[in-house]
Amino acid sequence: MPRTVRDVVFVDGVRTPFGKAGPKGIYHETRADDLVVKAIRELLRRNPGLDPKKIDEVAIAATTQIGDQGLTLGRTAGILAGLPQSVPGYSIDRMCASALTAVTTAAGSVAFGAYDAVIAGGVEHMGRHPMGEGVDPNPRFVSDKLVDESALFMGMTAENLHDRYPTITKQRADEYAVRSQEKAAKAYANGKIQQDLVPISVRNTNAEVGETGWGLVTADEPMRPGTTLENLAGLKTPFRVHGRVTAGNAAGLNDGATASIIASEEFAREHDLPVRMRLVSYAFAGVEPEVMGYGPIPATEKALAKAGLSIEDINLFEINEAFAVQVLAFLEHYGIADDDARVNQYGGAIAYGHPLASSGVRLMTQLARQFEEQPEVRYGLTTMCVGFGMGATVIWENPHHKDAGGDK
Ligand SMILES: CC(C)(COP(=O)(O)OP(=O)(O)OC[C@H]1O[C@@H](n2cnc3c(N)ncnc32)[C@H](O)[C@@H]1OP(=O)(O)O)[C@@H](O)C(=O)NCCC(=O)NCCS
Repeated sequence: MPRTVRDVVFVDGVRTPFGKAGPKGIYHETRADDLVVKAIRELLRRNPGLDPKKIDEVAIAATTQIGDQGLTLGRTAGILAGLPQSVPGYSIDRMCASALTAVTTAAGSVAFGAYDAVIAGGVEHMGRHPMGEGVDPNPRFVSDKLVDESALFMGMTAENLHDRYPTITKQRADEYAVRSQEKAAKAYANGKIQQDLVPISVRNTNAEVGETGWGLVTADEPMRPGTTLENLAGLKTPFRVHGRVTAGNAAGLNDGATASIIASEEFAREHDLPVRMRLVSYAFAGVEPEVMGYGPIPATEKALAKAGLSIEDINLFEINEAFAVQVLAFLEHYGIADDDARVNQYGGAIAYGHPLASSGVRLMTQLARQFEEQPEVRYGLTTMCVGFGMGATVIWENPHHKDAGGDK
């Protein structure tokens, strides 16, 4: 009777370009499910070794699971993507870390031997489904003082985190944001991002004249190359009067989708699929909801302990930039410089955007490319903070490293 634990690998990851949420955004007329379907189709196109019949599961995340993000997305996206009806699917939600959780949940099942190959990803159309749409928080959260009211508003939790780390000033957050934009622009100039983007055809409309034709989206809409400290200095602080969090040092409100193939290493090798990253460990942790941006620290501690590694063993970091302050708190905790070259080499969510439930796979796709380029790096991690006080971390091994697969 098999009671298996097997090596799990990240085979490939793609995403749609990310858009700005709202009537002027590129995806205003595009359905959320169509975005993730395009990502799945592209994965299949570029991995012909993966026979669709052999996909054991489709795990698709969305934070707001209603309308075109409802109806058990994994199943409906599978059918819309043309997968055989025999391939099952489900939907998943852990807010910002939803796609990351789709990957770890799938990976756990692969390790156990229940599945050989899974599609895992996520979508969030924050234009069609604004954060908090349809939610009905229990009044006891506040009346029983279980959480401070600010815990429900992510930008306020970022201001709270600034309070906890008085050394992280607005100036430092803005400097970090400028660097994120610079690194993203450089990554684009060097063709690092485009290779994993799925072009999306979109319908364009204009309020006055109606439909104006079709376009092809091939690049991230939110990017603001050339951002300077002077540009950021004068921006409003919408979450607190005289606060520190602005539209310039936070991720925006965005639309987009991601998808990845997670498989057992054995299956990937047998089917001639790439092995881009090997899963080492993962962990989730809860923290005070009022300072949810602190979550990646205990999650990383847990993931490191499970892996038998220390932070010094990690030489590439993909940290989701929900807010600059939350990345800086992580770096400060570990004594890593704000501009450390191992951190978010291609820039982050401050530049690209953060369509909540899709972002985890963007981090993984970028880390996989960095592993390919830097075989001297053995371990990297992807980490995210999560609304209502959580953190999520996955540690990966670089299969291109000379000692990969062996003991530490
Ligand atoms: C911060 C936030 C409220 C800003 O929303 P917004 O006001 O719609 O954002 P905009 O893109 O319109 O930017 C606001 C202003 O800043 C300016 N701006 C933004 N980034 C800039 C940059 N890099 N350089 C210069 N100006 C910039 C915009 O041009 C705009 O100026 P305007 O008011 O003169 O038009 C919103 O992005 C937000 O809530 N982000 C956090 C999302 C979140 O919580 N995610 C979950 C994480 S857990």
